[in-house]
Amino acid sequence: MINYIATAAAGLEACVKREAIKLGFENIHTFDGRVEFTGDESVIPKANLWFRCASRILIKIGTFKAVSFEELFQGTKALPWEEWIPVDGKFTVVGKSVKSTLYSVSDCQAIVKKAVVERLKGVYDVDWFDETGAEYTIQVALLKDIVTLTIDTSGSSLHKRGYRANALDAPLKETLAAAMIELSYWNKDRVLMDPFCGSGTIPIEAAMIARNIAPGLNRHFASEKWDRVPEKLWKEERKKAYAAIDYDCMPEIYGSDIDPAAIELAKSNAELAGVDDCITFEVKPVQELELYGDYGCLITNPPYGERLGDMKTVEDMYRSLGGTMHSNETWSTYVITSMEYFEKLFGKKASAKRKLFNAWIKTDYYQFYGPRPPKK
Ligand SMILES: C[S@@+](CC[C@H](N)C(=O)[O-])C[C@H]1O[C@@H](n2cnc3c(N)ncnc32)[C@H](O)[C@@H]1O
Repeated sequence: MINYIATAAAGLEACVKREAIKLGFENIHTFDGRVEFTGDESVIPKANLWFRCASRILIKIGTFKAVSFEELFQGTKALPWEEWIPVDGKFTVVGKSVKSTLYSVSDCQAIVKKAVVERLKGVYDVDWFDETGAEYTIQVALLKDIVTLTIDTSGSSLHKRGYRANALDAPLKETLAAAMIELSYWNKDRVLMDPFCGSGTIPIEAAMIARNIAPGLNRHFASEKWDRVPEKLWKEERKKAYAAIDYDCMPEIYGSDIDPAAIELAKSNAELAGVDDCITFEVKPVQELELYGDYGCLITNPPYGERLGDMKTVEDMYRSLGGTMHSNETWSTYVITSMEYFEKLFGKKASAKRKLFNAWIKTDYYQFYGPRPPKK
């Protein structure tokens, strides 16, 4: 049995937990910033291909208390690194330390590297490692003197789906966009509108959810080259993911933005993601926003007015958005913003509010529930 950690941005733990349950993983436990579960090697391709809201999938090698470098060294050396890292493995160590006696991250990284080398020297009976093979990124994380050692199976972060060729100024991470959709009452039978769509992240993620497209299908992962995960497992999981795509699903999704360059980018990103045929993108200021149909969901990441001088424009935009939404009372509205008096400008108190981080910016996710759509 292997212990896994799916890392989650602050506020997204519940979404990641829900995904872990849906994927059928076992012994699921939620903590701040992560969800842990267990399984065999087949979890590695499945989790990397399918998690929409998690940032990375790590293998938990071990955890112990350390307040001295000697304890860190001995604790690390005692762990079975050879179960994962072969004799030609290339292993780098990254680290972080929060509220711990051992606060020098670079020293902790060096100690862990030395301890793993010592362990593997004994196991493989060699004096020197060429490190010419597959990559194994070890993370040493200290929190209140508890050390957790992991190996990263993902490589680059899971928000990198492979469809965003170029980003604009303030793109939303794909993992956060997916979480905003998962936290809403939107489903593929309801219209979705993003009037500040930028590079198209929210409409594209929604279309991928509607069509059941695995978010990782367009990219590669560090663990694809590992000896312990047979190529067959990756092939099988990819094959299953392709078979699971519902190409016939035609959700009604709209994205608009005032910036023509953003709309061009959104269109090419949607094409790369294979969902351009179900999203209509349009250059349009929010002041001219039109909503098509009833019982739709508007999900958006507008400008926050962080830059000096932008505030008045942003306030006017939020008021205008509120006006449109109040005259479309069957619609539900979901807005992420750092503006603390958003509800005042929008003209309504949110049905629910959730604290989220958009990169390093503290935001609220305001949710205004419209009526439930009538049963078909
Ligand atoms: C925070 S960005 C959205 C980023 C987007 N979620 C993404 O992932 O790329 C805000 C967007 O609002 C657009 N915008 C600014 N003023 C606008 C207006 N009056 N009407 C419509 N869009 C506007 C900007 O061009 C920008 O693309």
